[in-house]
Amino acid sequence: MFSFKFASILISIYVLLPCISADSATFTHSITYKGDSFFDGFNFFTAPDPTHGWVDYVDATTAQQGNLTGVDSSNNVFLRPNDLDVITDPNGKRQSIRIQSKQPFTKGVVIGNFIHMPTGCGTWPAFWASTTGQWPDGGEIDIIEGVNTGEENQSTLHTNPGCTMPSERDQLGQNRKLNCDAKADGNSGCGVSYNNGDSSYGESFNNNGGGWYAMVHDDESIRVFFWKRDDSNVPKDVSNPPESGTITVDDSWGKPYAFFPLGNNCSGDNFGAESIIINTTLCGDWAGSVFDLNQCPGGAEKYKDITSKDSKEQCEEVVRKHPEVFKDAGWTIGSIHVYKLSQDNKKRLVRRRR
Ligand SMILES: *[C@@H]1O[C@H](CO)[C@@H](O)[C@H](O)[C@H]1NC(C)=O
Ligand SMILES: *[C@@H]1O[C@H](CO)[C@@H](O)[C@H](O)[C@H]1NC(C)=O
Ligand SMILES: *[C@@H]1O[C@H](CO)[C@@H](O)[C@H](O)[C@H]1NC(C)=O
Repeated sequence: MFSFKFASILISIYVLLPCISADSATFTHSITYKGDSFFDGFNFFTAPDPTHGWVDYVDATTAQQGNLTGVDSSNNVFLRPNDLDVITDPNGKRQSIRIQSKQPFTKGVVIGNFIHMPTGCGTWPAFWASTTGQWPDGGEIDIIEGVNTGEENQSTLHTNPGCTMPSERDQLGQNRKLNCDAKADGNSGCGVSYNNGDSSYGESFNNNGGGWYAMVHDDESIRVFFWKRDDSNVPKDVSNPPESGTITVDDSWGKPYAFFPLGNNCSGDNFGAESIIINTTLCGDWAGSVFDLNQCPGGAEKYKDITSKDSKEQCEEVVRKHPEVFKDAGWTIGSIHVYKLSQDNKKRLVRRRR
């Protein structure tokens, strides 16, 4: 009996050892958002857009009645701005959606399976996580955002002062700024953009059937990964996320697009309880300032009715007068899964060091 137990312990140690590599961590399933119950997990944000977009964020009932949110015949969730109505009131804004998860998470993995993302002139979509506290206390993690017809996509952190990123990092994306302090550089944050021609954002993303974005936040770092729909290297836990038990993030996940190390130069304490937010604004501080009528379908000559000269006002005029421009401004979402960092990761680390 004793020797049998002893032998099986030896075997378990032998079998387990290769799994305990430095970069591997396990996470326990916390919540799944998908299908008919998707919107039960989210609150609808209805305050004025803090980034000054030309949108009215509507509540759940209005969204459902206007068919701005729902579930399609493939059981995928859609949310989108109104793309039917001309708005005659010069101060009138276009209805859009911004939702925020009810259940916060701290360290964990968020996996989003997106079939379609908003794109087109005037659009500014984002999939991100923001503190449930007094921003920027508790931090902001932008998983993916972009503007207009850009194929540029970026991941960014925004924090309290005292969080900077090294210029040399093991990631596929390109560094933008290195200071994550929300009060520096007009809150541009420490961003990493992807320039790999890999269908990770915009029209090319949609034409390719979308893909998966994953954010991994553990004790050592925050990382953002992307796999396009037909990527044969997508980990099974990402393409087919389990709805109970654990997943392991290890070397098989490959290189992240964005790697934000936590430690001396950016304490992990900068990040606390976060909610997931999905928003689509139109125009606003970013998309409005770089708006170009030539990027709208058919080019600038198709929009003789647009009289403003200022790019932001032009954008707002297009939003009012041209609903058809926003046909591609919706999200189609297969699912979002959240996993929490397992408690035993710490124990395993301690054991390894002995
Ligand atoms: C949308 O998301 C981005 C996250 O990148 C955030 O900075 C911005 O404030 C949000 N805009 C609106 C208006 O909700
Ligand atoms: C609502 O939108 C969905 C998805 O685009 C569509 O399949 C459905 O026909 C629409 N319903 C109505 C009543 O327009
Ligand atoms: C932290 O910042 C200091 C000063 O900028 C730098 O010399 C050092 O290399 C950084 N450490 C890491 C791990 O990035």
